[in-house]
Amino acid sequence: MASFHRRPASGIKVIIVGAGFAGLSAAIECDRKGHSVTLFDKAESIEELTRFGDIISFDPNGARNFERWPGVIEAMQKVARQTSWLDLYHWKGDFVTRQSFADERKWGPRINGHRGELHGIIWGHAVDRGTIDIRLGKRVTDYFEDDDKAGVVVDGEKMYADVVIAAEGVRSRGRKIVLGFEDRPKSSGYAVYRAWFPGEAIAGNEMLKHLVVNGDTHSGWIGPDLHFLASSLKNGSEFNWVFTHVDDGNIEESWQFPGKVEDCLKYVEGWAPIVVEIVKSTPKDARLIDHKLVYREPLPTFISPKARIALIGDAAHPFLPTSIQGASQSIEDGVVLAACLELAGKNKVPLAVNAFEKIRYTRVHDAQAMGPKTREKWHKANWDEVQKTPEAIHLTREAWLLNFDAESDAYQRYGGVAADLEAARPRL
Ligand SMILES: Cc1cc2nc3c(=O)[nH]c(=O)nc-3n(C[C@H](O)[C@H](O)[C@H](O)COP(=O)(O)OP(=O)(O)OC[C@H]3O[C@@H](n4cnc5c(N)ncnc54)[C@H](O)[C@@H]3O)c2cc1C
Ligand SMILES: *[C@@H]1O[C@H](CO)[C@@H](O)[C@H](O)[C@H]1NC(C)=O
Repeated sequence: MASFHRRPASGIKVIIVGAGFAGLSAAIECDRKGHSVTLFDKAESIEELTRFGDIISFDPNGARNFERWPGVIEAMQKVARQTSWLDLYHWKGDFVTRQSFADERKWGPRINGHRGELHGIIWGHAVDRGTIDIRLGKRVTDYFEDDDKAGVVVDGEKMYADVVIAAEGVRSRGRKIVLGFEDRPKSSGYAVYRAWFPGEAIAGNEMLKHLVVNGDTHSGWIGPDLHFLASSLKNGSEFNWVFTHVDDGNIEESWQFPGKVEDCLKYVEGWAPIVVEIVKSTPKDARLIDHKLVYREPLPTFISPKARIALIGDAAHPFLPTSIQGASQSIEDGVVLAACLELAGKNKVPLAVNAFEKIRYTRVHDAQAMGPKTREKWHKANWDEVQKTPEAIHLTREAWLLNFDAESDAYQRYGGVAADLEAARPRL
């Protein structure tokens, strides 16, 4: 087994709940910093964890963190989409503009690929490290804390640590304990149909084959209240499409709710023939899901009253897909929390947890705000304006968000943030 770089043992014991991207990344980062980690997930197996989902995106601010985990970024690049652009079309079919992301390479890698495959790669690294105690088939049913420890209840048994990281996704129980109330999700008024199938299914179709026979592609059609994205990867051998549309949203959010091609077709009626054809070509056995987008108000805090339990990832801040930041922000969370714990040390865990929140809070919510911004820009495009300046419908790509190293930022800011916190609350 390879041995990986690990800081000297910090003596900090960390329990992490949830082995999604947020929890796994936090586990790896805590391990790198020398903390000792126990990770629980209710899933019985890694297969169960990676079975659902389709395209997921890590922008440079998220993906650059994978470069610190030996072998991970290389493995991801092998299965990721090989495009550095997005071709944008008017919903009636006219080509409008190609947005290039090539210049962003200097900010870090961009990874767009199958959620299950990418998750499996991170999982593999977490296991290979050999020092993370990973326990599957373990559902956490409660959280607790006092002044000098925190813990969880698993299978009726209490497990203790210096700090608990709740990374249980949008339906987090930890959230209720941290907040002291159940936060009610609201309908966002939008839903997403998502499909994934072999490129083969359209390789013989005259209208569509260019999307898969010349290597990878990435295209979007923009119209009123709806945007449709299609891409191919692995040299065109796999193809996926997703579209966001207005929806009454009165159903529970789920990544597993099957959708029907007939229903999808109603939404794209009157759209460019190529869009209709893509939907129609979705094979009967393709994975097609109807994912309701639930909206949650930003939480007032990510941390518990005694600052020994922290929410990270979707448990703390669910994102709309148009932000393209949900997964990346969940990685940043773990990076920052692990670094704060390292700098604070075992005797100052609540200070570390408070500093984590201070460092993350504004940035996460600024990133979250990009979701509705892009959606509005697309769904309410003024096409007369776009004709004059096609770049007006480019995805907003800002350096403050994307050219960002969460680890070095945390190292730089921790001292000042911690000093302010201690000045305000000397007992921390
Ligand atoms: C099934 C699924 C499919 C998805 N597909 C996509 C996709 O295709 N594209 C995309 O952009 N985003 C997708 N997402 C969302 C994306 O994964 C997240 O936005 C992002 O990765 C942050 O994830 P997270 O780790 O915070 O939460 P999640 O990925 O939701 O992970 C939470 C983990 O916590 C575990 N858990 C929950 N409750 C408990 C408990 N009580 N005890 C123990 N373990 C618990 C769950 O089993 C899960 O593994 C998907 C999410 C899910 C759950
Ligand atoms: C990519 O696919 C095309 C056919 O679609 C094939 O000609 C080419 O050899 C493939 N390239 C690689 C690197 O597999």
